[in-house]
Amino acid sequence: MRSSESARADSLTITRPDDGHVHLRDGTLLAAVLPHTARQFARAIIMPNLQPPVTTTEQALAYRQRILRALPEAAEFEPLMTLYLTDHTPPEEIRHARASGIVHAIKLYPAGATTHSDAGVTELSKCMKTFEAMQEIGLPLLVHGEVTDPSIDLFDREKVFIDQVLHPLRRAFPGLKVVLEHITTQEAAEYVRDAEAAPNALGATITAHHLLYNRNAIFQGGIRPHYYCLPILKREPHRHALVRAATSGNPRFFLGTDSAPHPREAKERARGCAGCYTALHALELYAQAFDAVGALDRLERFASVYGAAFYGLPRNTGAVTLRRGTWTLPDQIPVPAAQTSICPLGAGETIAWRLEHFSVRLHKERVRRQYE
Ligand code: DOR
Ligand code: ZN
Repeated sequence: MRSSESARADSLTITRPDDGHVHLRDGTLLAAVLPHTARQFARAIIMPNLQPPVTTTEQALAYRQRILRALPEAAEFEPLMTLYLTDHTPPEEIRHARASGIVHAIKLYPAGATTHSDAGVTELSKCMKTFEAMQEIGLPLLVHGEVTDPSIDLFDREKVFIDQVLHPLRRAFPGLKVVLEHITTQEAAEYVRDAEAAPNALGATITAHHLLYNRNAIFQGGIRPHYYCLPILKREPHRHALVRAATSGNPRFFLGTDSAPHPREAKERARGCAGCYTALHALELYAQAFDAVGALDRLERFASVYGAAFYGLPRNTGAVTLRRGTWTLPDQIPVPAAQTSICPLGAGETIAWRLEHFSVRLHKERVRRQYE
């Protein structure tokens, strides 16, 4: 399909995509959400913020086994593991992680920045030797880019992080591969677009929810906890900047859902948890966002090409088809084993695209035509 056709098509077949950032949790919740991610994505970068966090290669190997065991029969899905960086992660652990072949990145949570980040990094100065090792062996650092200073306005924490933390860090380690995760601001999009970096050395993931909603969604008709995530949704001009970045065809921007399931009662309470659940319908949400600006022809690169290139992974060989067709999102997804449910983002709203799942061997010819 030529780009001009696919930009307004009623169906779109793309190489199976990768999720560049997802929370799968563990135990009963893992069993409930994993089929959704595995249905949509061939691989995913798995966040390590379990309780306790995944800080060693041994723990990552064990977590990977639990994920593989929880997969539905016949699912074809590869979990790409990460380690949770602490003040005490030794450089040897980085080498061990790389040698394992199953750890693809190290995640930096500034301590206290978000859900399950208490064991995160209190001061970057404590991690210098570890960053050196990562730079040397090319293991990427995935960054939750928000400062934790309570005196900084919640809506400014990403912008301040870029100036005060990210930029100095990248200057100190020019060869370190970095992904600024789930960007939410124009400043982040412009920083990633314009910063000097070697090819595949700087990237940013963008969630579907930050492409589709602005901060009004959290308050429309009353407080709506299922739209609360961190970094928090921002103003409309920021959403526009993210849509421009995602649809720009710049390989630094790629898909990462940040789907973050929480039991319904953990979201709907006085101090509700941050996290939006999108694994059920992520690709459809992205299709909606790209379609809204006539950019469906750019979706495949964003979802299936640029992330793999960043991580030095081969492109997936299967395909998925999206068809135009309205359906209504369920109000909740029951998780009987945990006597709870999960509310998908946009529960009760209609959505204009539907994923038809199949994993055919994609015609090599089609891939060749599009990208060679
Ligand atoms: O909203 C969020 N939820 N942001 C994060 O960074 C963590 C995530 C979670 O684990 O629930
Ligand atoms: Zn996340």
